Amino acid sequence: MKKTDMLVNMLASDIKNKDILEVACGTADFSVSATRIANRVSCIDLDDSRLNNLVEHNRVTFQIMDAAKMAYADNTFDTIVIYNSLFHIRMQWDDIEKECKRVLKNKGTIYVVGTWKLDTNLMEELFGDNAFWRDGFLIARIVNI
Ligand SMILES: C[S@@+](CC[C@H](N)C(=O)[O-])C[C@H]1O[C@@H](n2cnc3c(N)ncnc32)[C@H](O)[C@@H]1O
Repeated sequence: MKKTDMLVNMLASDIKNKDILEVACGTADFSVSATRIANRVSCIDLDDSRLNNLVEHNRVTFQIMDAAKMAYADNTFDTIVIYNSLFHIRMQWDDIEKECKRVLKNKGTIYVVGTWKLDTNLMEELFGDNAFWRDGFLIARIVNI
């Protein structure tokens, strides 16, 4: 099974029939996997150079957008996923976290997920005991209150 399919299964309760945003999506493999069970999947990145061409054949809406300054309205998404990207957005993390909370609905969830050492080391530093390992994924869950 594809890694991103495994992750979608793991987070299914916050993905099934929900409106999802993947931030700093790169290839957007996670977004493509999420279309299996999500209601609506959007994803953003600063550029589309690595975007998986499966995106255009699936129900994924990709937009070039800075995650620190999103064009979405407040309270748009149920769940936001940042997958293997934290290291790349670390300098803007405070602004990006604020923006994620703004576009997330009340009681929505942000998942920061890492499998690469660069990301998981930083996650352990940033989230400490709030990040947990499951089946090779380090997962930090931030709930919007
Ligand atoms: C490691 S890559 C993407 C990993 C991705 N999850 C994947 O599986 O391919 C990190 C991505 O973060 C994007 N990025 C960096 N800063 C960003 C920002 N401010 N807003 C949106 N995307 C950003 C980069 O363009 C790059 O595609």
